[in-house]
Amino acid sequence: MTVHPIYGPNRFKLGIFAANADGGLTVTKVPERWPAAWEGVVAAARIADRAGIEFFLPIARWKGFEGETNSRQYSYETFTFAAALSGVTERIGLFSTVHVPMVHPLFAAKALATVDQASNGRAGLNIVAGWNPDEFAMFGLERVEAPYDQASEWIEIISRLYAQTEPFDHEGAYYTMRNAVTLPKPVAGKRPPVLNAAFSPPGRAFAAQNADFLFTTFKSIAAGKTTIEDMAARSSDTGRQVGVYTTTHVVCRPTRDEAEAYYHHYAVTMADTAALDYMMGKQAANASNHDPETYQLHRKWFAGGAGTFPLIGTPQDIAEQMVEMSRAGFAGTTVSFVNFAQELPYFCDTVLPLLVKAGLRA
Ligand SMILES: Cc1cc2nc3c(=O)[nH]c(=O)nc-3n(C[C@H](O)[C@H](O)[C@H](O)COP(=O)(O)O)c2cc1C
Repeated sequence: MTVHPIYGPNRFKLGIFAANADGGLTVTKVPERWPAAWEGVVAAARIADRAGIEFFLPIARWKGFEGETNSRQYSYETFTFAAALSGVTERIGLFSTVHVPMVHPLFAAKALATVDQASNGRAGLNIVAGWNPDEFAMFGLERVEAPYDQASEWIEIISRLYAQTEPFDHEGAYYTMRNAVTLPKPVAGKRPPVLNAAFSPPGRAFAAQNADFLFTTFKSIAAGKTTIEDMAARSSDTGRQVGVYTTTHVVCRPTRDEAEAYYHHYAVTMADTAALDYMMGKQAANASNHDPETYQLHRKWFAGGAGTFPLIGTPQDIAEQMVEMSRAGFAGTTVSFVNFAQELPYFCDTVLPLLVKAGLRA
């Protein structure tokens, strides 16, 4: 493979987010919620692969959200997850989501190159700063206020490890390395595509300087447009081209009433309220994944899909919103479902053809 799927021809690209963790992006008690059992993960990855969806993107989680479900406690580590999926898929991009402070850059460089070799050039890296102090504590770490200083040094080391064949020394603020070297290199001989999952201005500044895409949330498509304009200005300042991806949770049904009723059922009636309090409380206190207003206004969005944007309705409704996102300037979006393997086939069969018709996908 020479072109990574994220650089493929479709104008509006799609990814599957968080299928590596139980509950996916939801915080719900419905019995059909995603268990992240391995055979289901493989089934979902194969459906997405065959449908031409561009990438599979895991969430990075170490601790569950407590409550009744303890959602996300069961989650697969993301380099080994991508490596395993490379053997059962053929063309989909396979990202790994990595907390910078928890993973040494030499290890990350080797692991990412391993996935890239195993998948013939389909690996990608999603950098996250993290927000949950309880997860940092599991590693004996504290979450810092300026995580992007370390992240800049971290990604610079990875790029250098790929660029250089001779061992080198590195003396930085966060890492000291002697005679550092790594083989194999990635298939293309350079760093695979890098996303940075962030919302705040420092996160965007880091993305503009170091990533290929910002991966971010929005509370309305109009607000998303403002983020895209801001990123365009920032990337023109750094002389780099940095696109913007966003993230959604989807309930797609033959009628709007059915979709809304199911959304209410799983994200309100059956929400795991204690787990939701844990997740929203820790996030609001420690990170700015979202606009502050979003926490107040959209509790249902957090139970429905961890605060991502809801796409609830008929295939036509969902396709129309994606057309709007594309018009606003998004390079694409991830989608998540209550149960990926059960819901992906209907989504692929009904929404993808509408996106083809709209000229967004071939
Ligand atoms: C779209 C998106 C996806 C994220 N995915 C993860 C994740 O998988 N694991 C995690 O710990 N944090 C995740 N985060 C949170 C970020 O790591 C970070 O804590 C948060 O965005 C606050 O940082 P910021 O101020 O730079 O935006 C995500 C954030 C966004 C916007």
